[in-house]
Amino acid sequence: MATKTKTIAFANNKGGSGKTTTCANVGYSLSVLGKKVLLVDGDMQLNLSLSFFDEEQVLGFAMGEKNLYTAVKREEELRDYVVHTPYEKLDLIPSSTLMSGIEYELFTKWQRELILSRALAGLKEEGGYDYILIDSPPTLGGWVMNILCASDFVILPVEATPWGLFGVANMFEFLDNVKKLAPGLSLLGVAITKMDARKNYGRQTLEILHQYEAVNVFKTIVRVDSEIEWAQDHSRPVMAYKKSARSAGEYLELAKEVDEYACGRGQHQKSGGQG
Ligand SMILES: Nc1ncnc2c1ncn2[C@@H]1O[C@H](COP(=O)(O)OP(=O)(O)OP(=O)(O)O)[C@@H](O)[C@H]1O
Ligand SMILES: [Mg+2]
Repeated sequence: MATKTKTIAFANNKGGSGKTTTCANVGYSLSVLGKKVLLVDGDMQLNLSLSFFDEEQVLGFAMGEKNLYTAVKREEELRDYVVHTPYEKLDLIPSSTLMSGIEYELFTKWQRELILSRALAGLKEEGGYDYILIDSPPTLGGWVMNILCASDFVILPVEATPWGLFGVANMFEFLDNVKKLAPGLSLLGVAITKMDARKNYGRQTLEILHQYEAVNVFKTIVRVDSEIEWAQDHSRPVMAYKKSARSAGEYLELAKEVDEYACGRGQHQKSGGQG
């Protein structure tokens, strides 16, 4: 049965590229736009969970049973692991620090690249969510392969700094390999984040991306904004923390683009287009 639920992974093996911040804020913005969204925290750093709950609550999920690690280890449907965030239309599957051992857990399982895909199948079939957004750790291994195999699309957040694109070739190569197992997966786009307007690395980043054919880049570029860190410190998406923050508007625009492209409407800019 065709499902209306669209699943999007946020992945980049480069650490600190803005995966979690983009996943949390695009997710929140999509919910503000009226979409029903499930966020899945696939990283042992627990940062996506901490974007919505305080440390005590997150450690409670991590140490208890309501977390992704427990579901994957038991090979259970994720439906029973959903937690409601304080925001309407926005749910979360929390992570656990035990996710550090996830590669080991996968090793002994049948069709181990597809464990997460099977665990999400019921939720997708029910179609209760418009979007499932999955945050990934900064690695390229069996677990990230699981995340990508469970997804229709991947968004690659890239930091607009001189080293932001370092290693991106490995990421594209990894994606090509995953597509052999998951031919339906496509790169929804590269999202340029943390751009410092004074340094103008945005243009340089786009020029480097131009070397790669068929790489779509979101028109909205998210600039450096200290309100993001304040919001994270209060376990809130930036728009819920300070509606007037510049990055709140940028993430809302990015979410609109994500929704347009995921639904097959609208056109990206090609890499190399504008700076
Ligand atoms: N637009 C922004 N302005 C200012 N700081 C930002 C912005 N986006 C992200 N950050 C900060 O940059 C750091 C890295 O961001 P984030 O955690 O989202 O990256 P990540 O790719 O998920 O990292 P990891 O690879 O460790 O999972 C965080 O401290 C976050 O607060
Ligand atoms: Mg992260």
